[in-house]
Amino acid sequence: MSEQNIEWTKLAEEKSFENNSEQLHKVKRDDILIVKDDDGFHAINNRCPHLGLALNLGGCDLKNKTIHCKFHSSDFSYDTGEVKAWLDVKGFEKFMMWLFSKFDADAKKMMSMEPKPVETFLTKVEDDFVWVGIDQGE
Ligand code: FES
Repeated sequence: MSEQNIEWTKLAEEKSFENNSEQLHKVKRDDILIVKDDDGFHAINNRCPHLGLALNLGGCDLKNKTIHCKFHSSDFSYDTGEVKAWLDVKGFEKFMMWLFSKFDADAKKMMSMEPKPVETFLTKVEDDFVWVGIDQGE
């Protein structure tokens, strides 16, 4: 990643995270979730790489540095983006997904997607504000 292609956006005062360690911010068309833990600030795209649904609704586990997608039980590292669990549905929900996938090609495709990491971004603190750095590509 070249520093030249990083576009930095100022998001929020650092102290605003003291009582609100997970914040959603709109940057252009992306919803960026900022998570503050003991190691600092982390930024991810709030869209789950499975079907694009909102990750922040599942919540973060600050101890394990993961975020949970509540829609089909996937977990991702909010630090690296790595997939920790993928479509880990259980019980009745698993049965229903299996049933749908028997009759619906889209449902089958949806539940057989290969794991994909969540997109992560750079962060920094400058002038008491948290910034996110998004790679604009070549
Ligand atoms: S939308 Fe997140 S796991 Fe399906």
